[in-house]
Amino acid sequence: MSRFVDPTEIDAPDPALRPRRLGDYVGQDRVKDNLRVYIRAALQRGESLDHVLLSGPPGLGKTSLANIIAEELGVTMRVAAGPTLERAGDLAAILTSLQPREVLFIDEIHRLNRVVEEILYPAMEDYRLDIITGSGPGASTISVPLKRFTLIGATTRSGLITSPLRARFGIAAVLDFYSPPELRLILQRSAERLGLPVHDDALDELSTRCRGTPRIANRILRRLRDFAQVEQGTVTLALARHALDRLEVDARGLDAMDRKILHTIAFRFDGGPVGLSNLSAAIGEETDTIEEVYEPFLIREGLLQRTPQGRVLTAAGARQVGFARGGLFE
Ligand SMILES: Nc1ncnc2c1ncn2[C@@H]1O[C@H](COP(=O)(O)OP(=O)(O)OP(=O)(O)O)[C@@H](O)[C@H]1O
Ligand SMILES: [Mg+2]
Repeated sequence: MSRFVDPTEIDAPDPALRPRRLGDYVGQDRVKDNLRVYIRAALQRGESLDHVLLSGPPGLGKTSLANIIAEELGVTMRVAAGPTLERAGDLAAILTSLQPREVLFIDEIHRLNRVVEEILYPAMEDYRLDIITGSGPGASTISVPLKRFTLIGATTRSGLITSPLRARFGIAAVLDFYSPPELRLILQRSAERLGLPVHDDALDELSTRCRGTPRIANRILRRLRDFAQVEQGTVTLALARHALDRLEVDARGLDAMDRKILHTIAFRFDGGPVGLSNLSAAIGEETDTIEEVYEPFLIREGLLQRTPQGRVLTAAGARQVGFARGGLFE
């Protein structure tokens, strides 16, 4: 028997790698410390936790944290995704079936449509469902009381949350990219759970090359498991580097699309500024994806800036791709 997990499952999200309790959730210390207090206080009072808004770029652990909050509260969590709640009735059905203190998780909450979002306002604020029957002068509202539940909303685009919705969340947590030591710990634990031996220097290398993102760290680790399985069994530094090169992740942790964005701004648009839709057309990637997935990391790395005129490379971004505006390095 090999010590490797079924290779057909490598692309499935690994439930085994998901932290279950706050204590297993690496990093985001300020968020965790606050949540610990709020959760304990709610438990002591026997009340539902206030509504929580989790925001941050993809793969930083919003869904994991929502699960953990429910687990720590000792309640079940119902899951819905913003775009799949099409009609007010879809949400109403879920809301009326919630038990006291239960958690309702709405992923991509910035993508709720207006009608559905408006159902949420009285539900969040007064635990009340307002159903409008009829139309015109004959219309009337029936109010149905709801159990006191906790809404956890997750979003990659907190800027797109309307202010009435935002105002109804008592707790707002912004997740940030992870530091290399935090990622190292996540990688180490995941490697243990996968039964994959990884050398210390390989862990160091990986922790600086996964875009500050646990999901990417775990994904790279699963790929490494393939390389290790086929080639030698243990992840050495050389093997880690080889795999990262094959995955087109560079020394700084930028992937192929990150580099394409920087290159395109440099060499097609003379370093910028370039508008988002022009950039999108030039690289063949959706504007949403550029804004949600790629830019946050490039900005955080100090390679790119958003300005009112458009996207521009910073001096570091220009150096990264060997671009010199007007023939001179800035
Ligand atoms: N703080 C953490 N500690 C340990 N592992 C983590 C942590 N955060 C995330 N992970 C790992 O990263 C994976 C991705 O996390 P998760 O699915 O929670 O991200 P997300 O923010 O919900 O992403 P998306 O916005 O794409 O839905 C998880 O399966 C988990 O294995
Ligand atoms: Mg998620």
